[in-house]
Amino acid sequence: MIPKELVLEIRDRNDIENVIGGFVDLKRTGTNVKGLCPFHNEKTPSFTVFPATQSFYCFGCGAGGDVITFIMKYQNLDYADAVEYLAARAGINIPASSFGGEEKGPSRKRILEMNVCAARYFREVLFSPEGKVGLDYLMNKRKLSPAIIKRFGLGFAPDSPFSMLDYMRKQGYTDEELRSGYFEAISQKTNKPYSIFRNRVMFPIINTAGSVIAFGGRVMDDSKPKYLNTNDTPAYKKGKNLFALNYAKDLCGERLILCEGYMDVIALHAAGFGFAVAGLGTALTSDQARLIAKYTKKVILTYDSDEAGQRATERAISLLSEVGVDVKVLVVEGAKDPDEFIGKFGSAAFERLLDGSRSKFSYRADAVIKKHDISTPDGKLAASKELCAVVAAASSSVERDLNLDEAARLLSIDKKILAEDVERARRKLLKEEKNKLSLEAYTSARGIGDKINPDIAKNLGAASAESAILGLLLAFPEHRAAVASGKIELSPDDFVTAFGRRVFEAMMKLEGSELGFDITLLGEDFSPDEMGRIQRMIRERMMLTENGSAVLTASIDTLKFERAIQTAKDSGDKLAAFEAKRRMIMENKKRIHK
Ligand code: GTP
Ligand code: MN
Repeated sequence: MIPKELVLEIRDRNDIENVIGGFVDLKRTGTNVKGLCPFHNEKTPSFTVFPATQSFYCFGCGAGGDVITFIMKYQNLDYADAVEYLAARAGINIPASSFGGEEKGPSRKRILEMNVCAARYFREVLFSPEGKVGLDYLMNKRKLSPAIIKRFGLGFAPDSPFSMLDYMRKQGYTDEELRSGYFEAISQKTNKPYSIFRNRVMFPIINTAGSVIAFGGRVMDDSKPKYLNTNDTPAYKKGKNLFALNYAKDLCGERLILCEGYMDVIALHAAGFGFAVAGLGTALTSDQARLIAKYTKKVILTYDSDEAGQRATERAISLLSEVGVDVKVLVVEGAKDPDEFIGKFGSAAFERLLDGSRSKFSYRADAVIKKHDISTPDGKLAASKELCAVVAAASSSVERDLNLDEAARLLSIDKKILAEDVERARRKLLKEEKNKLSLEAYTSARGIGDKINPDIAKNLGAASAESAILGLLLAFPEHRAAVASGKIELSPDDFVTAFGRRVFEAMMKLEGSELGFDITLLGEDFSPDEMGRIQRMIRERMMLTENGSAVLTASIDTLKFERAIQTAKDSGDKLAAFEAKRRMIMENKKRIHK
């Protein structure tokens, strides 16, 4: 654990405006600074940096916190690594003794070191007699050149449960570390450790910073599972990275090819298309879509031609469109995937496919036309209905007009007639969206489905009193002092939501410590999302003019009464509930007239 004093010093030496300004285009408006939120998609800035309190908050998505929270979220790091990152940025040395807490397991840094060591081992084995089967497979069966094998750092995991582990132990890695890094598992039968990757060709997965974060391993025959991938480790989370982005990121400014498999990417790079990446065994995630949007504005999807590939295409079109990336679809014809296509027809043929890749509208229109027999009136009517709905979904009117032209041509229907149907479909869509929006507002106002504080819905009145209390205590030291000294009575048991109670307890514990309370120190125990909620409670208070102790005591009374009412209700005592409610109204009246 990094000493708390040092954490605060590191924070102070990293001015929040300066740090965030390195990633987000910020504009000054009065005392605050605004920009487009990097954590959700927006066209007008609601992401705000508050230099005075060294915090940030997005009024659109609720992301918020201090400079450490920002780095955790933006760079996908845990608390300790984010602090380390900021220390390095400010040129502050963290003493080595701060790392390697016993029960915490190996750090991300240690895992990354271990991965490099493992990659080196797999590669050495591949080019040794033991790896001959692997090298044969890659060179003869998959037609990879030694140069491309080296470029991707491919390797081979020997067909032995122990060889790799023995080697790694000799390099100084403990069994516990090997398990954290997803290299070792314990056999259920014999209770003995064994190596997870065996008899597989190995693909290292490298992030944009150039670190080996995980591995994929492929069997050389038809056995299952075909690919085995590293599970989540302290250095790797599924669905947040893309294979070969480390190379493609410098070549994909104009366009990026997104495909399904490791082998597709390697074949594409070998054929001169170095701007190709692949997902890693999962359907495209929104994290991956955002990652892509950082590097390019145009993606060409080249998923497998089977049904699963087509479903994945639909999903990817939606996710990428949401983050403002222009999507085109390349349909691989005469082969099941890009790898096979290039093997059969060569790279010039693939280049032609690439240039002829379809707009997402043509792609969808094609699917609709194929589904119906448009030579019959019924089929034509059904196809036209579906196509109009697809045209109507585009938010730009220019885009709708262009697509309408194409739809009219495909169906051989007069454009004017089709336009009327599109208008109708558009109105219906807008109405549905409006309903959905008001439903969202309703559920969020009622706290239904609140992931950060799921208890809110149980007692709305108490929960809102709670956030008023916490906002006041978080923002004003005099209120914290009053509660800590017992001048104002408030205990963890008064809280009705588990989240509120946790915040209160953590805050009061720090308040009583030598260093005193500092919001930055909460970051160690609360997730970035929770830090955003804590920030919201502060911001909501700061927007109000009255924040004195009268407001605090009134809110505490409300909380206690709401609790009493709830307890009475829960026990089925209607009379007691009624009595509690009456007392609450009386008390409030008294206060107002005071
Ligand atoms: P080749 O058969 O070697 O050409 O593989 P491919 O890259 O064409 O793979 P395929 O189209 O079968 O799968 C696409 C991607 O899905 C692979 O690159 C893997 O990332 C992932 N994948 C495939 N099979 C498995 C599996 O059995 N387990 C896991 N976890 N992922 C898999
Ligand atoms: Mn393939």
